[in-house]
Amino acid sequence: MADTQTTHAPATPPVIRREDYQPPLWLVDHIRLEFDLDAHATRVKARLSVTRAGRHDRPLRLDGDGLVPLSVAVDGKALSPADWRLDDDVLVIALPGNAHEVETEVQIAPATNTQLMGLYASGGLLCTQCEPEGFRRITFFPDRPDVLSRYDVTMRADKATYPVLLANGDPVEQGELPDGRHWARWVDPYPKPSYLFAMVAGDLACNADSFTTMSGRAVRLGIWVREEDLPRTSHAMTALKNSMAWDERVYGREYDLDVFNIVAVSDFNFGAMENKGLNIFNSRYVLADPETATDPDYDAIESVVAHEYFHNWSGDRVTCRDWFQLSLKEGFTVYRDQCFSADMGSAAVKRIEDVRTLRAAQFQEDAGPLAHPVRPESYMEISNFYTATVYNKGAELIRMIALLLGPERFRQGTDLYFERHDGQAVTCEDFVKAMEDGGGIDLGQFRLWYSQAGTPRLTVRQRYDPASGSLSITLRQTVPPTPGQPEKAPMAIPVKFALFDPATGEHGGEELVVLTRDQLEMRREGFAQAPVLSLNRGFAAPVIVEAEQSAQDLAFLAARDDDPFSRYEAMQQLMINGLLAHISGAPLESDVIIDSIRRTITDPTLDRSFVAEAVRLPSEAYLGDQMQVVDPDAIHAARERLMTGIGEALESEWRALHAECARNGFSLSADARAARKLRGVALSYLVASGAPDGAALAFGQFDRADNMTERQAALAILVNRETPERDQALAAFYRRYAGNALVVDKWFQTQALAFHPDTVEIVQALAGHADFTLANPNRARALYSAFAANQWAFNRADGKGYRMVADAIIALDKLNPQTAARLVPPLGRWRRFDGARGAMMRAELERIAATPGLSRDVLEQATKSLA
Ligand code: ARG
Ligand code: ZN
Repeated sequence: MADTQTTHAPATPPVIRREDYQPPLWLVDHIRLEFDLDAHATRVKARLSVTRAGRHDRPLRLDGDGLVPLSVAVDGKALSPADWRLDDDVLVIALPGNAHEVETEVQIAPATNTQLMGLYASGGLLCTQCEPEGFRRITFFPDRPDVLSRYDVTMRADKATYPVLLANGDPVEQGELPDGRHWARWVDPYPKPSYLFAMVAGDLACNADSFTTMSGRAVRLGIWVREEDLPRTSHAMTALKNSMAWDERVYGREYDLDVFNIVAVSDFNFGAMENKGLNIFNSRYVLADPETATDPDYDAIESVVAHEYFHNWSGDRVTCRDWFQLSLKEGFTVYRDQCFSADMGSAAVKRIEDVRTLRAAQFQEDAGPLAHPVRPESYMEISNFYTATVYNKGAELIRMIALLLGPERFRQGTDLYFERHDGQAVTCEDFVKAMEDGGGIDLGQFRLWYSQAGTPRLTVRQRYDPASGSLSITLRQTVPPTPGQPEKAPMAIPVKFALFDPATGEHGGEELVVLTRDQLEMRREGFAQAPVLSLNRGFAAPVIVEAEQSAQDLAFLAARDDDPFSRYEAMQQLMINGLLAHISGAPLESDVIIDSIRRTITDPTLDRSFVAEAVRLPSEAYLGDQMQVVDPDAIHAARERLMTGIGEALESEWRALHAECARNGFSLSADARAARKLRGVALSYLVASGAPDGAALAFGQFDRADNMTERQAALAILVNRETPERDQALAAFYRRYAGNALVVDKWFQTQALAFHPDTVEIVQALAGHADFTLANPNRARALYSAFAANQWAFNRADGKGYRMVADAIIALDKLNPQTAARLVPPLGRWRRFDGARGAMMRAELERIAATPGLSRDVLEQATKSLA
């Protein structure tokens, strides 16, 4: 009856709910895997030692995804096809006893696996990605994180094509086979869930090193890359050794196997993966040298290497019971990597960067149709929940717990958590309970941070009474409604503040209060003049503060606040207030801003890296977030105008800074890196000033740079301008780096991020470039994710930007649903724009949702975005 070719909306995929969790009916104590590897036809034999969990008579159900069993055997006897069935993709076998050996054999084709989940081919390698549900694309298995098994893995492959064979755990045996093949066997002694399984086969070179743990065990470290990339692995190796030492020092956690390997692959759906003993990385988070990587690239490598390494304890030794608990490992591990990076460099600047990321990604998510709690209640496709909320807001929750406990009790809490739950698959609740028991605190109300979505708003009212010299402060919180959560209870919000005496520039000590009700009133005495309030110091709570501070108070804090985050924040708020007033029709008041910037760039006591952060204008997107209805054109015009004004007013200062921050000879020292960053900011203001030599200066920096940081910074400035230097620089950059995929990504990305009236057409043309492919996630993101983040270009009034991204989503979905789904949220922001733009965005979402054969990934994101 129904014609499958008609355009009716596809059936809605089933919804998985947290409250429906049931423990597994069968456990797998041990699994023996044998791979006969071949890019087009890999045979996978699996032998599972299964045991019935509890008393029940239900059959064994093994997840599969696109698998057809070639054979099924139980306790050594082949089953006839009547003794098993496929229920959708699930292999169902009725078993008589309580313990059996179940064997299956399947054939898979890594070379045609464009989803990059399961076993796939990348640049001549064979590699795996299993989190969250990729293992079922390799073999039949209860593919859920609460089934922990010991793995014994044998790989056989052609020795010339795949000379290196790696898997989890420790290597135990290897040997030669006829016909130029060879084999290797790896055994992982630690029981683990299937999502942590990994294997790699390929022609790889190794940067080998070693680390001696605190108990004196020597661990062999290896970073495996293509031969020609070996010289770019030293930074990642240093980061790895620093991470291992840091986790011992700060958390008392030691590494637990004889080897730890990292493999870089060029086709990867996200950043990296913490497979036990065999981390697999997107090559962009491994490879760096000064010629091809920027300073932020170096930082990202350090933090991702640390993140994946830290998962060995917060993720692998203690894992998640189910995917609703994802933040158990991700929020905690992001917090751990943030603290590590803070310790390796400038803690102040790291906090500023982390807050900027949180606001850009998570606050937007929390304010839109895809808002969900840190511990979600339901999903259609779990891959859609690897979000800024689960990761970055999750990290803020751990940070608040650490603040409430203080360092010693926080450590007692984490010690108890690791000890109590080692080898288990647990919940966020288990984590919170361990912090309560180990740290001696009641986190009752705090738990709402895990269950309530939406960014709390904190409004502040101050009244100073000159007669009594007292200040009363009223804090009020509101938590906005989010999908499925119309009403919210008040949260426990830690607020750090200080009151500055404007005469002395000093404050009487920082205070921490916890707001637990709708409203809190405080009175502080003894002020001869109205004090200046420095609030949410260190960004202690992930909230939006509405404080209505005068430009004078903000300028004071921008010059005097001893909390670097709050000092930065005051400067940004000064700029935001000026820009928003101008956008709503007032003349642009830039004098206070310019004075504050002048004071900041000429203050010799300040770290230059901090200065660069503080004097940079807020992004167009962040300005949009402050408006009822985002007006991308007005924001762009106002911001450019202020940029020009600051450039002109301080032209000689920028010129001096640009010259002063130049260095002879490259160095990665903190001072050299800070100088490069500030030099980039100075150049951007100098060019914005309209100085006649601006483009030439930028081109000079581009051309003479001995490092990617300065070269790329100059290119990013030139792409915004209609000058011959723009095209010259783009052409030179491409010629110089053609063939280096990671740098060619930068070439695409820089153009997609450009403030240029024709960015839509430029991106359209780049999609037809010989080097462009949707099949490589880095390349697809370099063009389309960057473009969708370019507020002015993506939201161009003719709607062409929306259409182009929707077309890309539909095309990419056929290859790689996970990566396609990540492009949907920008279109879901339609409520934030005017009616005409909103209608066009909605129309694109509807067109996507109505596409026949759409993946569950994109369908969930598109339908939820329309709701
Ligand atoms: N666990 C990995 C990490 O954070 C990321 C896995 C992401 N998986 C996904 N389907 N998005 O380090
Ligand atoms: Zn992670």
